[in-house]
Amino acid sequence: MAIRIFIDEQEVKAEPGESVLMVARRAGFDIPALCYHEAVESIGACRLCLVEVRSGARPGISTSCNMKAEDGLRISTDSPEIRRDRATNLELLLLRAPGSPVLRELAARWGVRPRLQPPPDAGIANCILCELCVRVCAALGHNALAAVGRGEKKRVGPAFGKPAEGCVGCGACLSVCPTRCIVMKDTPAARTIWGQSFEFHRCQVCGQPVITEKHRAFAIAKRGLPEDYYDVCEPCKQSQASQRFASVVW
Ligand code: FES
Repeated sequence: MAIRIFIDEQEVKAEPGESVLMVARRAGFDIPALCYHEAVESIGACRLCLVEVRSGARPGISTSCNMKAEDGLRISTDSPEIRRDRATNLELLLLRAPGSPVLRELAARWGVRPRLQPPPDAGIANCILCELCVRVCAALGHNALAAVGRGEKKRVGPAFGKPAEGCVGCGACLSVCPTRCIVMKDTPAARTIWGQSFEFHRCQVCGQPVITEKHRAFAIAKRGLPEDYYDVCEPCKQSQASQRFASVVW
């Protein structure tokens, strides 16, 4: 059964189980969200996706990424209270990651000037501890990352500070990191990430890296792929397909 919610007085349709953020974004509303990814469960860590709930038993300001759309829900995406709370939350994120371009850009857009100085060791990695990398890594079945430590000492990375056995060097953690604070280096020979080095499996046609050897072995075993699945890179596969097509046509 389709659900109707009202966002800034505009009626919007939603499917059961969808989050308010997902529905609002699809309808074109601009809600900032740094720790959200539709492929993994939301934990409401960055607290930037605030909306104001104007109906039901629990009105008030809440994160929208982990709020389910319910029939008849009325929310507002912009009000002086939302702007004030978002700005405060952004200031707190800036204390952790003062060098993050995405946070600086939001601060400039919203006119936020941090009133507090970051502690001396803050922002070294520009990590906002949203744990999106941890959640994505777990969803992919690698479970290589964790949030370790408490309070100011809390960090994200391989558990116990040792190279993570489960890491296959896929780089998914970096691709979802909102502050791009994860360091990954590719050379012609190998990829380095989280203190480990991974050899590349190369395209047998052009010699370009296709995937790390460890990621290849993981994917073949997990998805039951043929052994030669990664032997040719996508561009070469496409070019081979075009050549085959041309030979049939001509
Ligand atoms: S996106 Fe909702 S709290 Fe970060």
